[in-house]
Amino acid sequence: MTKILVTGGAGYIGSHTVVALLEQGLTPILFDNFSNSQEAVLSRIEKITGVSPQLIEGDIKDGEKLNEVFVEHEFDAVIHFAGLKAVGESVEEPLRYYQNNVYGSLQLFRTMAKHGCFRLVFSSSASVYGEPESVPITEHFPLSAANPYGQTKLMIENILRDLSAADARWQASILRYFNPVGAHKSALIGENPNGIPNNLVPYIAQVAIGKLSRLSVFGGDYDTIDGTGVRDYIHVVDLADAHLKALDALDDGHGCCAYNVGTGEGYSVLEIIAAFERACGAKIPYDIVARRSGDVASSFADPIFSEQKLGWKARFGLNEMMRDHWQWQSANLEGYK
Ligand code: NAD
Ligand code: UFG
Repeated sequence: MTKILVTGGAGYIGSHTVVALLEQGLTPILFDNFSNSQEAVLSRIEKITGVSPQLIEGDIKDGEKLNEVFVEHEFDAVIHFAGLKAVGESVEEPLRYYQNNVYGSLQLFRTMAKHGCFRLVFSSSASVYGEPESVPITEHFPLSAANPYGQTKLMIENILRDLSAADARWQASILRYFNPVGAHKSALIGENPNGIPNNLVPYIAQVAIGKLSRLSVFGGDYDTIDGTGVRDYIHVVDLADAHLKALDALDDGHGCCAYNVGTGEGYSVLEIIAAFERACGAKIPYDIVARRSGDVASSFADPIFSEQKLGWKARFGLNEMMRDHWQWQSANLEGYK
């Protein structure tokens, strides 16, 4: 029985990855403080897979609690999703972000080492590329961060590089996600943002169900195909699959290695609106407003290294991403409530 500790396993990407792990016959143990998720996700996971995984309520900042978990279970590896992720909030509350993401990760890595577990898959972000000098972005591009959230990801990446340089037992796959969207095809699990969504697709989805009245498109004067921001949207089920491949890659003995997780295709905000309109069969009213501070014009991945090294490639295209996001949103008007 291969046990995997999944921190943040009740969240959006975590829950989809837990489904993928269960479908592979692995045993995920979820560890989550529910700061941005609900316990109800467990019964949804059970409906999809027929298995109710064990979930431990706890905070990664709590070293004692983590220690108890590692005393009780012997883990083959850890997938570390737990973290706060709202860019704007991180600018307003940097201490909370550094404390939760960086200190919490240190507590986790310390506990792993104490118990002889040195295999990790970490959720990083394309935000570590800052303002890229060109697109597509390869893993060799210079790293920088434009906000405290991005800084926390960069710091944790650096900690992992230092750990694996100091001790060859550390094997870490760092996954740099581009823009996760979509939901499981069952429409039983999906993204459930607290309050008004910050991200484009969840916002559009709430306009489509009438919860929000209009979308603001941030900037119409970028040097892109139609003046709006271009991003690399990746289906969350493809993203979950990348974690299985990243776990396998830990056996290569590569030390610490970073991989882009994107499709390699960039779509503008207006292209996303049009695709969502096709999926939901309704118009999404919008206004083009000023640029959002800190946004880059264009960001999309060069996914070749992930394809070569992980044997991973995105399967789902834009229409499937929007269809599945819409199916989840329209079937769950109030999320998990
Ligand atoms: P999410 O908020 O849905 O999931 C994160 C989970 O971690 C939540 O269930 C939350 O309750 C839990 N958590 C947070 N702090 C914790 C703590 N101190 N102890 C225990 N649990 C804690 O977010 P997500 O979209 O699933 O993102 C997962 C990871 O991927 C995060 O680290 C995020 O920064 C990273 N990431 C997300 C995106 C994105 O756009 N969704 C993009 C790039 C990277
Ligand atoms: N956008 C709008 N209106 C909105 C929201 C977004 O026009 O209401 C635009 C943005 O300006 C941008 C595009 O839609 O051009 C995508 O914006 P998102 O907020 O959905 O995503 P970002 O690319 O800004 O950031 C996301 C996550 C970060 C992560 C990054 C890279 O929020 O945490 O992807 O992975 F770091």
